[in-house]
Amino acid sequence: MIDQFGRRIEYLRISVTDKCNLRCIYCMPLEGLDWIKRNDLLMYEEIAHIVKMMADMGLRRVRFTGGEPLVRKDLHTLISLVSKIPEIEDISLSTNAVLLSEQGELLRDSGLNRVNISLDSLRPDRVDAIARRSGSFEKIMAGLEAAENLGFDPIKINVVLVGGYNDDEIESFALITKHKPWHVRFIELMPTSSNLNLSMNNFISCQDALNKILGLGELESVHGPRGNGPAKYFKFPNSLGTVGVITPMSHNFCDECNRMRLTADGQLRPCLFGSLQTDLRGPLRQGLNLIPFIEKTLQIKPERHNLIKGSEEGSGGLVALSQTGG
Ligand code: GTP
Ligand code: 5AD
Ligand code: SF4
Repeated sequence: MIDQFGRRIEYLRISVTDKCNLRCIYCMPLEGLDWIKRNDLLMYEEIAHIVKMMADMGLRRVRFTGGEPLVRKDLHTLISLVSKIPEIEDISLSTNAVLLSEQGELLRDSGLNRVNISLDSLRPDRVDAIARRSGSFEKIMAGLEAAENLGFDPIKINVVLVGGYNDDEIESFALITKHKPWHVRFIELMPTSSNLNLSMNNFISCQDALNKILGLGELESVHGPRGNGPAKYFKFPNSLGTVGVITPMSHNFCDECNRMRLTADGQLRPCLFGSLQTDLRGPLRQGLNLIPFIEKTLQIKPERHNLIKGSEEGSGGLVALSQTGG
C-alpha cells in the first residue's frame, strides 16, 4: 500500500474500545465521552477480517490500542485470530497496564509480541493525579513487572510531558534506563478539544527534556529497539535501555508515516488527526468487497497534520485521542 506521497503503509493501529479505566488529564475528559454503542463496535471476527484483507494488500504489523484495550472483554481471542494471519509479523499493544498483570500471560500465549506502557510519573500521588483514578500506580507497576517476567521484549514506557506535573522527573525516568532494559519515551502533548488549556500552558518539548537529560552525562544517538513508530532514540554509555523522544509538535515526522488507524466502530482513518475517515463497518456488514474502500482511504491520506499548540484547529474535531487510539 503506497499513498500519493510515496509512503509505504504497512502498520495498522486498531482501537478496540473507546472506553478507559483511567482519565488521564491530557487524554480523556473526567466525565468520559459519549461511548460508541455496542452494535456499532466491530466484533473481533470483523476486525480480523479487515486485517486479513489489508494483509493481502501489504499490511505487516498491527498494534491494539483503546481507550484502554484491556477493558474490552477477552482481547486475547482477537490476538489469537490475528496471530493466525501469516503475513502479520508483529502484534503489539499500547496499554496503561492496570490490567496487565491479570491478562498478560494469556495475551502472550495468544500471540502478543510486545507492549508499550503509559506511565507519566514515578510518584504514586502524581500518577493518581494525572490518571484521576486512585490506586493506579500500584497496579501499573505490577503490570510492568508482569510484562518483564513474561518476557515481552522490547518493553517501552510512554511518558507524556506535562509541565508542572512531571517535568521534574525527566532525569529520574532517564536514569532508569541505565539499569533496566526499558525504553523510556518522552512524548510531546498533542492538542485535542478537551485538553487545550494543558496544551497551551503546560507544554514541554522533547528538546527541553533532552537538555535536562544531557545534564546527567553523555548521550549517543542509537537505532533503538524494534518498532514502527516515530520515536528517535538515545542512550547513555553502557546503559541497558534507551531514552526516546516522540515530537509531533516540534519536529513533524509525517513524511515517514507508515500507518493507518481503525477505530472501534470500524472507521478507517488515514491520519490520527483531521476528519477524514472511511466507514468499513457498513460495507463489511453488507458483505461488500472492502478493497476499494481501503484503497480510497489510502489515496486521501493527508501529507501531514497541522496541529497548533493550544488550538483545536488541526485536530479535526477530535475531543480526545482515546477516540482514535493515539
Ligand atoms: P512502536 O514504535 O511500534 O513501539 O509504537 P508507537 O510508538 O507507534 O506506539 P505508541 O502507541 O506507544 O505511541 C506512542 C505515542 O506516539 C503516542 O502518544 C501516540 O499518540 C504517538 N503516535 C503514534 N503514532 C502517531 C502518529 O502517526 N502521529 C502522531 N502525531 N503521533 C503518533
Ligand atoms: N498527547 C500525547 N500523547 C497522548 N496520549 C494520549 N493522549 C495524548 C496526547 N494528547 C498517549 C498515551 C499513550 C499513547 C497511546 O497515547 O499516553 O502512551
Ligand atoms: Fe501520519 Fe497523520 Fe501521524 Fe502525521 S499525524 S505521522 S500523517 S498519522
